[in-house]
Amino acid sequence: MRLVIKHIGLLTGLAEPGLDRREGRAMNDFPTLADAWLSVEGERIAAYGTGEAPEADETVDAGGRWLFPSFCDAHTHLVYAGSREQEFLDKINGLSYEEIARRGGGILNSADRLHETSEEELYRQAMERIGEVVRMGTGCVEIKSGYGLRTEDELKMLRVIRRIRETSPIGVKATFLGAHAVGRAYAGRQAEYVDLVCREMLPAVAEEGLAEFVDVFCDEGFFTVEETARILETGLRYGLTPKIHANELAVSGGVQVGVRYGAASVDHLERTTDAEIEALRGTRTMATGLPGASFFLGMPYAPVRRMVDAGLGVALASDYNPGSSPSGNMRMVMAMGCIRMRLTPAEALNAVTLNGAAAMNASADYGSVTVGKVANFFLTRPMPSLAFFPYAYQTPLIEQVYLRGARVD
Ligand code: NIG
Ligand code: FE
Repeated sequence: MRLVIKHIGLLTGLAEPGLDRREGRAMNDFPTLADAWLSVEGERIAAYGTGEAPEADETVDAGGRWLFPSFCDAHTHLVYAGSREQEFLDKINGLSYEEIARRGGGILNSADRLHETSEEELYRQAMERIGEVVRMGTGCVEIKSGYGLRTEDELKMLRVIRRIRETSPIGVKATFLGAHAVGRAYAGRQAEYVDLVCREMLPAVAEEGLAEFVDVFCDEGFFTVEETARILETGLRYGLTPKIHANELAVSGGVQVGVRYGAASVDHLERTTDAEIEALRGTRTMATGLPGASFFLGMPYAPVRRMVDAGLGVALASDYNPGSSPSGNMRMVMAMGCIRMRLTPAEALNAVTLNGAAAMNASADYGSVTVGKVANFFLTRPMPSLAFFPYAYQTPLIEQVYLRGARVD
């Protein structure tokens, strides 16, 4: 079946086949084509061009609307039970994220709720969030475990992630994050918990083929560089690629240990010095900023401007989770990238599309308008310029959403 979208006012986010990321100055290129058409064969992009649109089984007239590749959100925790607005109130009343965590709130609070929630109900809640992010333009999403913190509950989360992949047209990448916090039953016995992650959880996750990535919260008050190295090494032995939470609360050494083990991405980076930028230079590890967490927790923003000026590629992701970023809105992420992190609109667009895909090893299929990639894109109202998209950050510009070549909104 061939679908053609014709009368596209501006076809955006073009990339040559094989280009898997944009770095440094190249981040300012977000190639476009005016007065274009796009054809889709089955689930994939078949061709695009200008002039007369080719014949098709179905032709859609875009009426001058603009076409963007779907957002690629490379860091979320969107499988969780319930919500944590009580902690939101605690924060308003002056408690910090660390203080809330020390009092048994935070991640452990979500783990308690998740334990009491059935797999079915967890799936139902997660699918509501999937529906929400799809309508907001996301077409590929990474989802982490890490609210289980017991083997059975970690597996329960990962099975929910697998079921989302099987039942939704959105692209889904799964990450095992057993080392998100020390489970309650192991309070004061962190070394034994790390043993559990390495000796029981990782083998079980690998046995069922439930995750492609292994992640660790390598930060002050959470896991040390040595513990992180052991978990990443074990994960690699089971065929899992590292990703990492690093430098959110302190200059933790997390970036360096992530780079050492070939992480696909190092994420957060609010406390980044020149040493981290040096460590990332010349590597395939994508620096990933999470401005939603900075906004929500009142933290500094990751210095992604400096990173791009130093020649690095950066991605931006939502961190959608109940504690530090209860939003999966990638348009808002893009706007914060411009407003608070001083990326240009073109850089921010690359950060939430092609580079987001690279941060979850998904650039072969997602992240740009490229012949052969999955046909995940959305149509917007025509705009005065590309800069209007992050500028008018609340205007409901997205009008039609396509995933795997079919309209889903
Ligand atoms: O990426 N920083 C660690 N983990 C999450 C927050 C998890 C939570 O508070 O529930 C994050 O911000
Ligand atoms: Fe996170």
